Amino acid sequence: MAEKWWQRSVVYQIYPRSFQDSNGDGIGDLKGITSRLEYIRELGADAIWLSPVYKSPNDDNGYDISDYQDIMTEFGTMADFDEMLEKAHSLGLRIVMDLVVNHSSDEHKWFVESRSSRDNPCRDYYFWREGKDGKEPNNWGSCFGGSAWQYDEQTGMYYLHLFSKKQPDLNWDNPTVRDEIFKMMDWWLQKGIDGFRMDVISLISKPAGLPDGAPGANGYAPATLVANGPHVHEYLREMNRRVLSKYDLLTVGECAAVTIDEAKSYANLDGSELSMGFQFEHMDADFDPVLGRYAPQHKDLPRLKEILSRWQTALDGIAWNSLYWDNHDQPRIVSRYGSEDEKYRETSAKMLATCLHMMQGTPYVYQGEELGMTNYPWESIDQINDIESLGNYRAYREQGLMTEAEGIAMLRQRSRDNARTPMQWDAGPEAGFTTGKPWLPVNPNHVTINAAEQLKRPDSVFHYYQKLIALRKELDVIVYGHYALLEPEHPALFVYTRTLGGESLLVVCNFSENAQAYDIPEAYADAPVLIANYPDKAPAGTIRPWEAVVFHRR
Ligand code: GLC
Ligand code: CA
Repeated sequence: MAEKWWQRSVVYQIYPRSFQDSNGDGIGDLKGITSRLEYIRELGADAIWLSPVYKSPNDDNGYDISDYQDIMTEFGTMADFDEMLEKAHSLGLRIVMDLVVNHSSDEHKWFVESRSSRDNPCRDYYFWREGKDGKEPNNWGSCFGGSAWQYDEQTGMYYLHLFSKKQPDLNWDNPTVRDEIFKMMDWWLQKGIDGFRMDVISLISKPAGLPDGAPGANGYAPATLVANGPHVHEYLREMNRRVLSKYDLLTVGECAAVTIDEAKSYANLDGSELSMGFQFEHMDADFDPVLGRYAPQHKDLPRLKEILSRWQTALDGIAWNSLYWDNHDQPRIVSRYGSEDEKYRETSAKMLATCLHMMQGTPYVYQGEELGMTNYPWESIDQINDIESLGNYRAYREQGLMTEAEGIAMLRQRSRDNARTPMQWDAGPEAGFTTGKPWLPVNPNHVTINAAEQLKRPDSVFHYYQKLIALRKELDVIVYGHYALLEPEHPALFVYTRTLGGESLLVVCNFSENAQAYDIPEAYADAPVLIANYPDKAPAGTIRPWEAVVFHRR
């Protein structure tokens, strides 16, 4: 198969609300992004995934879209978008737009029509059902807490919303809905954008008859029970045939609850569906066995290694992986698997970057990850904005599963808002993000962790990411090498090799604050070091705290 541009690329994700404000209203915007594009170019990324910038009432910060062909008022105008796109292209940066079409906003004209009467032509664009015995039509839960059904007075029926009640699910079984979506996608592609990141795309095909599912800890069947539904691949192939295949795009599906077998379809290298998918298994590896994500973290390195390794080997030569630690839905990786301690924060951030960027797939860097940004020290529920954190916190509190203090401690580890605090540009007021009052607080640690300081310092986390990204451009073994895990049971070391013909890499990462005894395998004893997060060589037989070292043999 001929190489695709996205196989050697690194994607930088921007969460526009928190990236750069240009007019002092405390909300990031398109002009702000345009003013910071050189920074992303300097890092070496090839493409930008832009979280949604469409018209939205912001019930879920833009993931609830009321007009797919217009720009969110707070973010600017379509002219601002065009200017950003043009400048990005002139810098050699491609723009990948978020496509949120599992659901729309309840304020989208389709839904306004749909809810207006039982026989409206748009009625069947969404899922309307009668109640059952005076209750919801089935036991499905919303990802944001409570039932996935909302009773609507106007027509006396319920509609389905796997997310908030302001995010009604679109009915992909209706061919007119697919026509409308494909037309809209084509409109953006004609404008010259370079791809789509497809929001919860694995959920678009609901099982026939919408049957009850096995209830989880909160009494509801989890929304992910609809993942990989009966027609999902058929619909994506149709989208590919009618739209995607006409352009040279990067497409990445957010595939909640995807299995490796399913991923072989979604991300097949034959190009019949998408370029790649985001799988969630490695993000779920530290979930509480009963309460899931919104509970204190359970770390288990052998499990994390097993999952990532399984994806590396199973997709090799068949489908394509995306590689990520951070995004706008995840707490910060340094706080999660690294160290917030000043002594080791940067070392651990570099170790985590090494571990991920030496794998096969397309790496994603989420804004601020390249600085080693950390979680926020939340102290009260009033500081939290995220609808998912609030919904789950309230549900647990009502069910008596957590005290208030436990709830806050849990959100400090797990809330999506940890990723959404403003980008830390400099040590000045509000970290250079805004001249006004930011919509979410700036992390007080911006006085030490910020881009301006790191750009000046050669051994910063920023420059380490820059080097990792440059290496991917140079070495085929990073792009295509076959993966093998060593030391699967080791509780603190993540060790693997990549091999391509006569060339190979040995990647050794210490996921702990303690030195570990480890002898570098004989074959690599004299191999040169490709990249490492300590300036000097470790004493023989030792891997230092949070150390990462990559040996290159050819
Ligand atoms: C995806 C998005 C998330 C959003 C949800 C509903 O998971 O990444 O931010 O809340 O879908 O659109
Ligand atoms: Ca603004």
